[in-house]
Amino acid sequence: MSRYIFETQDLHFDYPDGTAALQGLSVSIERNKKIALLGANGAGKSTFLLHLIGILKPVKGKIIFNGQELKYDRASLINLRNKVGYVFQDPEIQLFSASVWQEVSFGPMNLGLTNEDVENRVIRALKDTDTTCLKDRPTHFLSYGQKKLISIADILAINPDMIIFDEPTASLDPKYTHRILDLLNDINQRGVSIVMATHDVDKAYEWADTILVMKDGGIIKAGPPEEIFNNEHLIQNTSLEKPLLLKIFKELQLNGYLPQNRTAPRNVNQFIEILHQNALNK
Ligand SMILES: Nc1ncnc2c1ncn2[C@@H]1O[C@H](COP(=O)(O)OP(=O)(O)OP(=O)(O)O)[C@@H](O)[C@H]1O
Ligand SMILES: [Mg+2]
Repeated sequence: MSRYIFETQDLHFDYPDGTAALQGLSVSIERNKKIALLGANGAGKSTFLLHLIGILKPVKGKIIFNGQELKYDRASLINLRNKVGYVFQDPEIQLFSASVWQEVSFGPMNLGLTNEDVENRVIRALKDTDTTCLKDRPTHFLSYGQKKLISIADILAINPDMIIFDEPTASLDPKYTHRILDLLNDINQRGVSIVMATHDVDKAYEWADTILVMKDGGIIKAGPPEEIFNNEHLIQNTSLEKPLLLKIFKELQLNGYLPQNRTAPRNVNQFIEILHQNALNK
């Protein structure tokens, strides 16, 4: 099996009004990784992600999925969407059934599973998203965060190899944000590849294995979070900001409060640990 779940070569896409939203986008997306897609508003993140599930078709360039060039006939697209799930930024666009149970069972029912298998998939997806208590509720009365969780349960029930999230935590409160990021970690541990578009550099720094940076319809840099956020030139030339944790750590190093040779912490607990160790060594 190819190391990459997706490879794109020189993708170009123009919207009907002439906006050139993708302008030569080439990238390789490794299997089983947690990938954050960063970039300014209008950089082309959503446009790019919609290409990965064949909702948009490039005017030039190609997309390789699981080692084979993506085709746009009905059977190929059904195959693609059974393996790659897409969670829309706005759950209102995604949810269309009257009740939560109907909503989450729709995907597995279309896979031609037995009633028992469908039921098991729905039960598991609701359990994973901690939404079992909502199963009989009408979808349109749910709160925004609850709708978001159900839109994720929708996709989990299909059991895809990869899930694409367009800003999964935008407009969620801190509790729901944590819940969703924990859930994404769990899903990834089970071998599901995850790509998430986000504006939250702090979360991306802590969470991602790889960061892709988009600008003007192309990927201008890909690499591990430490490398991306220590690249001053890149940060100055994009809308990126250094994560707060890294900013404070660097400032303490620069002023001699922490040793120069320490690798930067990826989360608050690691940072506290470094501070404790440093205090003990004094
Ligand atoms: N339906 C559309 N018709 C015309 N232009 C569009 C359409 N959708 C997006 N665009 C344009 O394409 C470019 C890329 O937009 P896209 O939504 O992909 O950016 P994004 O990186 O997802 O931004 P954001 O962070 O704001 O979600 C922008 O210039 C945008 O105005
Ligand atoms: Mg977008």
